[in-house]
Amino acid sequence: MALQVRSLNPALGAAVTGVDFREPLTPAIQAELNAAWMAHLVLVFPDQPVTDAQHVTLTRVFGEPEIFHQDIIKSRSLPEIFRLSNVDDDGNLMPPAHPTMQQINLARRWHTDSSYRENPAMGSMLHGVEVSRTGGLTCFINLYDVYDALPPHLREAVHGRKARHDFEQLSRLAATRKLTDAERKAMPPVWQPLVRRHPVTGRTSLYISPIYNDAVTGMDDGDAVALIEELAEFADQERFIYRHEWETDDILIWDNRCTMHLVTPHDPMERRVMHRTTIVGDGPVLPG
Ligand SMILES: [Fe+2]
Repeated sequence: MALQVRSLNPALGAAVTGVDFREPLTPAIQAELNAAWMAHLVLVFPDQPVTDAQHVTLTRVFGEPEIFHQDIIKSRSLPEIFRLSNVDDDGNLMPPAHPTMQQINLARRWHTDSSYRENPAMGSMLHGVEVSRTGGLTCFINLYDVYDALPPHLREAVHGRKARHDFEQLSRLAATRKLTDAERKAMPPVWQPLVRRHPVTGRTSLYISPIYNDAVTGMDDGDAVALIEELAEFADQERFIYRHEWETDDILIWDNRCTMHLVTPHDPMERRVMHRTTIVGDGPVLPG
């Protein structure tokens, strides 16, 4: 059966069917998947009831899986699996005040994964193990289109500038538990260009990750935060967004180099279990 790729939205996102991720993939199918990913930025694979080990194997079609630097969200059984879940490894529901939930819930604001790394993650792959019926939609913004549409004053403001991406900004925003010294040392803040060139497509996009950005070169911190907020607000327009309503065993892959995402709130008493792998970046961010 041949691969079918169907666009889901004019901005970004395509559904891909005609493939079973429990079976080995031919090099030709792997190449088609990578090409579809570059063309649509977000791919949705419905009805893929994979094990965590198969999820990790599938991730390798696109790149090398990352091992997360914190222990709190990492799966005990497979270190490549990042548990975006309100249920802990022992099956207990975690209340919203739980420090792990406070950190996970920051994903309700626009961001791109691992942007605080020197070589940020190129992509992420999320498997809906137990999906929400009360919210929990994952929404994506096409940052190529956002860059192309920037009004002149914002284009001017981002030109040649870098933003700081600091993992510790999470604990400042949510008053979550403070980072340990080891966590802080493992992840010092990095400066990334606000305009980047995609290493594969060569296209130019905006590059912000508002939950991690706390400074911009050549600006005082107040102006920097205001600029990041204005850019995030401009990007948050229907014409740039695809919203994914989850079905059980959907697998999504997105490109962190040219998109931002967030998750919408859901009833905290409802179990939501999502397993993510993260794909190691292919090098430092190229300025656009
Ligand atoms: Fe995320």
